[in-house]
Amino acid sequence: MATASAGKVRHPKGRAIIPTEQSGLTWLTAFLDSSVGAKVVVALGGIGLALFAIFHMLGNLKIFQGPDALNTYAFFLKHDLGALLWLARGGLLGIFLLHVVLALRLKWRTAAARPVGYAYPGHVQARVAARTMALTGIVVGLFILFHLAHFTFGWVHQAEQDGRLISYLDLRDAHGRHDVYTMVLAGFRTTWIAALYLLAQVALFVHLIHGIPSAFQTFGLQSRRTMEIIRGLGWLTAGVILLGNVLIVTAVWLGWVGTS
Ligand code: HEM
Repeated sequence: MATASAGKVRHPKGRAIIPTEQSGLTWLTAFLDSSVGAKVVVALGGIGLALFAIFHMLGNLKIFQGPDALNTYAFFLKHDLGALLWLARGGLLGIFLLHVVLALRLKWRTAAARPVGYAYPGHVQARVAARTMALTGIVVGLFILFHLAHFTFGWVHQAEQDGRLISYLDLRDAHGRHDVYTMVLAGFRTTWIAALYLLAQVALFVHLIHGIPSAFQTFGLQSRRTMEIIRGLGWLTAGVILLGNVLIVTAVWLGWVGTS
């Protein structure tokens, strides 16, 4: 017979102690440590990050409306949102880190438990995307680090103004706001930078065509009909993000925007 004291159950014969009450933190650690918990967090995080990528791309399309539209939008995000900006940045960073760490841990655990992979009965493209999730994820992660160093911190490259080179972050428009428009032009007019962004968009596309359906599958949407729909949703979302971002980079690179 087991005896209970202070929330613990002690087995009469031995050392086993089974906690009957768990603190919130213990529960969270156990949840994240389980495969199901980690999969749910990876899926929710992935959907959150994909939504961010859609809204970020839609906002950046303002480049086609000219300098004032893009700079007003960037000013709104960075100055008018106040503390919300830092909340969003912190949330995004947290979601990103959890997504990466838990996804890689799931991959390592699966590889350790099952060194020979399952035959996957999907399409050839889906198989390639599924098998390269860690690789495309790492490429996208490295791209984000580069992208932050490039446009957020201005460490990578400089803009030319009145014959001299100045930091991206010192560019100002006629209203004294950060001139994000000129910064993006300076960035993508440089061939190696444009090429790097284009390559990263392909990696993001391949990551999303498997990642989005896989996230919905985690929530149990696995019937043949729903699988067809969510596979289509994956291709549509990934395709829209690819098209929008490639359009921005290519249009600047080829001089379709910014030359009057
Ligand atoms: C190729 C198309 C892209 C363009 C033109 C672009 C443009 C920009 C610009 C201009 C900024 C700096 C905003 C500012 O200083 O006001 C920025 C920041 C950022 N971008 Fe992108 N971006 C692109 C793709 C992406 C992708 C694919 C991701 C991730 C999936 C991403 C994630 C971020 C993040 C996390 C920030 C930092 C936001 C912050 O400062 O709070 N970007 N981007």
